[in-house]
Amino acid sequence: MIVIKTISELKEYTAKNDNISLVPTMGALHLGHGALIKEAVKQKNQNGKVIVSIFVNPIQFGPNEDYNKYPRTLTEDVNFCENLGVDVVFVPSACEMYGIEENQKDNFNFSNNYLTYVCPPYFLVNKLCGKSRVGHFDGVATVVLKLFNLTGAKKAYFGQKDAQQLFLIKKMIKDLNLNVDIKSIPIVRDKNGLALSSRNKYLDDDGYNKALIINKMLTKVKNLYERGITNVKILFEEAIGLNNDNMIDIEYFEFIDFNNLENTFEAKENTLVAIAAKVNNIRLIDNLLL
Ligand code: PAJ
Repeated sequence: MIVIKTISELKEYTAKNDNISLVPTMGALHLGHGALIKEAVKQKNQNGKVIVSIFVNPIQFGPNEDYNKYPRTLTEDVNFCENLGVDVVFVPSACEMYGIEENQKDNFNFSNNYLTYVCPPYFLVNKLCGKSRVGHFDGVATVVLKLFNLTGAKKAYFGQKDAQQLFLIKKMIKDLNLNVDIKSIPIVRDKNGLALSSRNKYLDDDGYNKALIINKMLTKVKNLYERGITNVKILFEEAIGLNNDNMIDIEYFEFIDFNNLENTFEAKENTLVAIAAKVNNIRLIDNLLL
């Protein structure tokens, strides 16, 4: 496995290898990322190569978000990728990725209008995570398109955990006529049902126990739905009852038609039940696709 830090080296590599599968990540890799990587390695064909990008993308973090604090565990991440049979880890610096001189970086404000951005349509962005994370999906779409261009990937792997992100990437592919086949991978959870996330590292024992409420709410919805209850008002009330004493601070708990991201009042196949909550001030997301 090789570790590539510069765009020029990456381009040299991809010029010689035109059968690339890409797994974009921000690092602090866990078994959720591992599921994407394993699938990419399993599905690659004879001359195929799997590239994992590790890049904490500054332009997708709001000014009051955790960009500086975001966990960075590069040595472990590189070993993790090597053990899973990855061919290349691409780890650019922010300056390398956005073409900024190292000595200029303190003058560069990532939220200014210096860059050309890809902006997914407002009606799909202004809901779920996009409502509170203004500009977040512009930053995501921009960096993902750059990674597609830099690697020439034919396939790219994304997790269902970030359901709105997955939806918007597919929309970008369709709208911009990109030739990338998107593979979506189910949510990986720990033994108690908590969806794996790099941000789980911030949780102490108390936070961890509270965070389990999120999946308990989703499981409650799933069980009631399987018993034939489809009325969203009833499903909502039953599930929200599990958060007694407001142990977690729910930002949204919504029932969404995953064909178009519209709210739905009747749960049915392809309804996305999505939750974002702050647990002791740590923001976590999870969802269930019926
Ligand atoms: P990151 O949060 O590191 O996640 C990278 C990929 O791993 C995403 O596609 C995400 O959905 C998937 N993933 C994370 N936790 C998962 C879990 N528990 N089960 C299954 N998949 C999981 O998402 C991003 O990075 C960034 O926005 C990125 C796409 C890399 C652009 O910067």
